Amino acid sequence: MEKVAALILAAGQGKRMKSGLLKVLHPIAGRPMVGYILEATRTAGISRMVVVIGHQAEKVQEVLGSEVEYVRQKEQLGTGHAVLAAEGVIQEDLVLVLYGDTPLLDAATLRAILQRHQESGAAATVVTTELADPTGYGRILRNQRGGIEGIVEEKNAGEAERQIREVNTGIVCYRRLPLFQALGKVKRDEFSGEYYLTDVVPLLLQAGYKVETFLVQDQSLVLGINTRVELARVEKIVRQRHLERLMLDGVTVVDPASTFVDSQVEVGMDTTLYPFTFLEGNTRIGAGCRIGPAARIVDSVLGNEVVIEQSTIEKSHLSDGVHVGPFSHLRADCFLEKGVKVGNFAEIKNTLVRSGTKIPHHSYLGDSTIGSRVNVGAGTVIVNYDGQSKHHSEIGEGAFIGCNSNLISPVRIGDGSYVAAGSTITEDVPEGALAIARGRQVNKEGWVARSRHRAPEK
Ligand code: UD1
Ligand code: CA
Repeated sequence: MEKVAALILAAGQGKRMKSGLLKVLHPIAGRPMVGYILEATRTAGISRMVVVIGHQAEKVQEVLGSEVEYVRQKEQLGTGHAVLAAEGVIQEDLVLVLYGDTPLLDAATLRAILQRHQESGAAATVVTTELADPTGYGRILRNQRGGIEGIVEEKNAGEAERQIREVNTGIVCYRRLPLFQALGKVKRDEFSGEYYLTDVVPLLLQAGYKVETFLVQDQSLVLGINTRVELARVEKIVRQRHLERLMLDGVTVVDPASTFVDSQVEVGMDTTLYPFTFLEGNTRIGAGCRIGPAARIVDSVLGNEVVIEQSTIEKSHLSDGVHVGPFSHLRADCFLEKGVKVGNFAEIKNTLVRSGTKIPHHSYLGDSTIGSRVNVGAGTVIVNYDGQSKHHSEIGEGAFIGCNSNLISPVRIGDGSYVAAGSTITEDVPEGALAIARGRQVNKEGWVARSRHRAPEK
């Protein structure tokens, strides 16, 4: 097999997105747009990937890392100009040009295109599709024998040409030598001032080369994104595909239309996702869990048989059998061991909670370590912030924290000790002790009657 280099064009700003963020970096199901075409290319077995960058080049490099090579297109003078920028770095016989804004293309289609290109011996194989609404795409011009003659951009197309429904997907496989020979002859478009890659087709034909087309039947595979309307359309397809994959792997999705799962998220067998569940970023959910309704889980790892109801979980680890919610918020760096129960209206941050501990209602635990089998009463607050710095507190195994207690950090509550309800704890509590830190109750007998008696008469 001949050697192939994939050339991914990602230098354009994407003006039609009306955005400060480069078009190809806009996230689709939690992952930058350009990441999809790179993954398909890699899966298709093409290991050499060269990305043409220009606008926000540093940002693209930061996102894509060192797995791909980069070529700079200093000025964005069109797709033809972008390919020419890579001339010096490509030695492979075949160049597969891909656009960073075509994220739905899959590896199987890429392999089929390459195979056809090699079998036909053409100098270029233009990948086309037929669209009911071809607005925005370059149209494929064919001669009477049905062969491709050229591609006309929408801006340059006449009324009759605009009716053509077969469009250029932007994906083209070329032989390197004829490609760069022809590119050298491409002239600036008189309307836009750009060098169009599409102008290579008639030049190759004039030079006596064969140009083939490859029609992709499923249009959704080659949808390009130019505006946020198309972004939303593609995002919906990406999410739908991922949900279907999860369902086929044994996940129950009660209502796919109202369940939002990012493309990197993994979910185990017999887990049920209820409506208005959002699973985002690098999230992994185990088997037999119940998630939602209305749960948002970001960059977190959940074990098996975990239950999350109407709660938000961020950057945390939850072991088997943990239950959270309804209406709680786990902020970054929470580690909840086996069987921990967090009820309603709790906020927990940077805290390790050991197995079997219960935090049933209305608590704030920040920067702390909570031992196993602790009972944290309603209204318990770990007062971790003194206005300048954060401090750490610890609650020992089997301790009992009475309702409405403040633990002023740093403080340590010993194993098996009790804190009386309503206490404000400022000093360590020894193991097995009872700490009471509140005003003693005074009952003033007959006070109500006396104070009424003193009230002025009307
Ligand atoms: C292009 C095609 C059009 C096709 C459509 C499919 C040309 C002239 N037109 O139009 O026939 O139907 O794609 O989606 O090729 N880019 C650069 N440098 C530049 C200009 C663009 O790297 O100087 C990159 C962009 O970042 C983008 C890709 O090339 O990823 C396509 O550019 P875009 O401006 O979106 O082309 P279209 O107008 O969609
Ligand atoms: Ca485009």
